[in-house]
Amino acid sequence: MKYYSFESYEKMSAKAASMVAAQITLKENCVLGLPTGSTPIRTYEILADMYKNGALDFAQVQTVNLDEYCGIPKENEQSYRSFMNHNLFDNVNINIDNTNVPNGMASDIAAECIRYDELIDSLGGIDLQLLGIGNNGHIGFNEPSRQFSKDTNCIDLTEDTIQAYKRFFNDISEVPRKAITMGMRSILHARKIVLIANSLVKEKIIRAAIEGPITPLVPASILQLHPDVTILYSKK
Ligand code: PGA
Repeated sequence: MKYYSFESYEKMSAKAASMVAAQITLKENCVLGLPTGSTPIRTYEILADMYKNGALDFAQVQTVNLDEYCGIPKENEQSYRSFMNHNLFDNVNINIDNTNVPNGMASDIAAECIRYDELIDSLGGIDLQLLGIGNNGHIGFNEPSRQFSKDTNCIDLTEDTIQAYKRFFNDISEVPRKAITMGMRSILHARKIVLIANSLVKEKIIRAAIEGPITPLVPASILQLHPDVTILYSKK
């Protein structure tokens, strides 16, 4: 694992954007695995600026998002589909048909999970997976639990996550309790992984993920098994 510490969120985001940009430049039809959350917002802005300046072309890029809430229609501004459209896809020349987010409104969620894994496989897997990390060590919505979940699956958000995410909603009662998340198999099969995190509260969990035992109680610790992980961290 490579670990880089930055003095600011801006510098961390610039490095993350440059790594994603390098991937797109190397392989114009690459498959990007993408996160939501507050951490990647600046990275996405910088990528959109690169596109506007003519430095980056998303025309053939394909994307698969890590997760989506269950029970929130994609048109709702709280959905991760809306987040991605607003923060990245609407701001670059990506073909929206080449962007994929799990369908949290599917009538058959189990079938949707299978479809999502098959889709990722049909794209040839992920070239670069950008990850955030939760305060509890989750990646995607793979929450701490007694075992790692291999496949895309529907999970119950933990109380920690509900507390951490209430800031995005008017009231904690509005935070969805379930989500579909990509499982560890697709994440670990990504050819390159870049994990981004900022804020002091994440320092401890990042240390546990990098230096502690590999355990499903710290889901990000499984990244120790991957040969090409870069962690970009800023305290502020
Ligand atoms: P954040 O969320 O970027 O809003 O901190 C990260 C996560 O929970 O995965």
